[in-house]
Formats: sequence, C-alpha cells, structure tokens
Amino acid sequence: MIKYIGSKRTLIPIIVETIRRATDARSVIDLFSGTSRVGHALKAAGYRVLANDHNAYAATLARCYVQADAGDVQADATRLVREFNALPGSPGYFTETFCEKSRFFQPKNGARIDAIRQAIAAKALPPELEAVLLVALMEAADRVDSTTGLQMAYLKSWAARSYNDLELRMPNVLPRARHGKGQATCMEALEAAQSLEADVAYIDPPYNQHSYLGNYHVWESLVRWDRPEVYGVACKRVDVRQRQSIFNSRPRFAAAMAQLLASVRAPVLVVSFNDEGYLSRAQMEAMLASLWNGTGKVVTLENDFKRYVGAQIGIHNLQGLKVGKVSHLRNTEFVYVVAREDLATRLAPMLPAREPQLALFAGNSETRTGP
Ligand SMILES: C[S@@+](CC[C@H](N)C(=O)[O-])C[C@H]1O[C@@H](n2cnc3c(N)ncnc32)[C@H](O)[C@@H]1O
Repeated sequence: MIKYIGSKRTLIPIIVETIRRATDARSVIDLFSGTSRVGHALKAAGYRVLANDHNAYAATLARCYVQADAGDVQADATRLVREFNALPGSPGYFTETFCEKSRFFQPKNGARIDAIRQAIAAKALPPELEAVLLVALMEAADRVDSTTGLQMAYLKSWAARSYNDLELRMPNVLPRARHGKGQATCMEALEAAQSLEADVAYIDPPYNQHSYLGNYHVWESLVRWDRPEVYGVACKRVDVRQRQSIFNSRPRFAAAMAQLLASVRAPVLVVSFNDEGYLSRAQMEAMLASLWNGTGKVVTLENDFKRYVGAQIGIHNLQGLKVGKVSHLRNTEFVYVVAREDLATRLAPMLPAREPQLALFAGNSETRTGP
C-alpha cells in the first residue's frame, strides 16, 4: 500500500473490532476511503464495503481493493503485471514533469512508468482490471520515490530507494466478501452520504488545511493520465487550486461535518478523528450526541500513537537544515461510535476499567485509552 498521511494502518484492528462488536452489520460505507486499507480489512472480514473518495487515485485504490474480486481479475492481472515488467522505458510526460522539471523519481524509473502507463491506456481494459494495474503501478512507483511520503516536495538528495528499479507486484486483491460485492465511488462526501446506504458508516475526514490532492498530485496525474499543466517546484496539477475540500477549511469544517453526519444513511456511525483536528473531543461528542433529534449515544475509544514521519524528522528549511522543533511526537486518535441505542455494553471489552470521573459525557458516553 502507498505511503499516505492520515492512513489508519495502525488503527485497523481497532476499527474492525469496534464494528464487529457494535452491531451485526453486513455492510459498511467508508466515506473518505484514502488508501482503502480500512475497506480492504473490512472486506477481508466479510463485510460488503461501499468505499468513496473524491480523488481519482483514491477511487482507483478502492476499485482495486474493495470492488474488484480476485476471482474476476487475478489471472489477467498477474499475466499483465509480468508483461508490463518486461517493457523497456519510454520517456514522456511523466519523466519530463516528475523526473526532470522536478525530482520525485529517477529518470530511469520515470521512463518505465511512462511506458507502463501508456500500455495500460492502450489496452482499454475493463475498469476493475485497469484499476488493479494502475494500483500495481502506483505502488511500484511509491516504492522508488524520493519523498518523505508527501508530494508537496521531493528530497534535496535522492532517497536511497529511488535507485532501485521499478517493479510491479500483484496487489492483494481479495475474493468477494461473504456479504456481497463491494463498490467504489468517486463523489463528494456529502453526495456519497446522501446516496449510499449501509448498516454502518465509517467516517475519516481530513483533519487539517493540507489538501490530499496537493499532497498526492503525482498519483492523481498518473491515474487520470490527462497530462495537466503544472505549477511550482513540486509541479502540482493546476486544478489543485480549484478542487478544494470543504473539510480542509477550519472555519467551514464544523458545519460541513454536521451536515454530513445528519445526511449519512446508516444507523451506526464510526468516526475517526485525532486531537490535532479542527474539533475537540468535547465538540465532536456533542455533535454526535445531537444526531437523531438528540438521541445519539456516543462511545469514545481513545488511542495514543506516534505522529507521522515528518514530525519525527523535524522541521527543515529549503537547504535541508533543521530550523525548528516539532511540538510533540505523539497524538491521540479517537474512534467515536454513535447509535440510537447505547453500545457501551457491547463495546465494554474495548473500554478500560471504568473510571467514572472520565467516562461520562452528557450522561451517555464511555471512554477507552489504549492501545
Ligand atoms: C484521513 S484521509 C482517509 C484515510 C483512510 N481512512 C486510510 O486509511 O487510508 C481523508 C480522505 O478524505 C478524502 N477527502 C477529502 N475531502 C473530501 C471530500 N470533500 N469528499 C470526499 N473525499 C474527501 C481525501 O482524498 C483523503 O483520502
């Protein structure tokens, strides 16, 4: 899977276990699917997953990991991975933009990315098979990139891994889930909330001002293959300036979140948010408790984690010199669960021993500290 800020890799066992204990659900919506790691784990656990993200690269990851079933694509994709791995490089837009104008990849790998992406386009494959090959290419490129995991900038000197040769590997596409075929959509979250329906909705919105499209613009251009005009040192696609998310806006976040939560068509909502986000724990709990005419019952699971790699490395200037200190190296990831019925008993094994002074929020919430 690709490096992705805000990815819930370490939280996955907690999210899956929370959903399993909270309800006898068969289907789960993932409204902000990102890498689709969560959807992939839920699909593996048997759920029918409906994954949505408004960026094309993320919807492609979801089409591969959530919608495509191994029985339908595995044989063809394995053959094509082998065929594409044998293609010689052929420099084009990608090499020029991301290896010469900027330095995200070594030119030898850029030329092979160009050749493979062109070959995928030329085959005009069925959408699910195409998504699997695009993900194989995205992940192969990610393994030889020269970044810290964000595409706002590339490293001043080549990363050691960038010298390796690009190599496609077959993504871990799962067999169809016990509860039915998954679905990937590429909609605005609010539109997805209004149109998708399931037993549970998992909601993991952005938590700061940095646009995912700006952070992962290279993947967007690789997947869309629309050879956009670019700007700045990082060669971002020009539409990064227009395609903004309301969830990246501090003043607009709370209203957007409230509208989204009220629109979701699922009886149980599971929300991921951390202590660096625009809403405090108290604000989020109050917003969730106000659902369904104020009958929402909230359980909060609290998990302490190491912060993302950028925070571990420190703050550097353009010359690569350390110029600042990061304020803290750990953060708290909250998993909020809200339903009309009180799920505290079902979730009790995930909560620490009762601490009454901490555990009550407006008379209807529980808390857990972990992992
Ligand atoms: C915190 S990340 C989700 C990470 C994901 N759970 C994972 O584990 O990889 C938030 C995601 O929301 C998507 N997003 C941001 N604004 C959106 C919007 N208005 N509608 C739909 N998706 C949006 C971003 O593209 C990003 O992938």
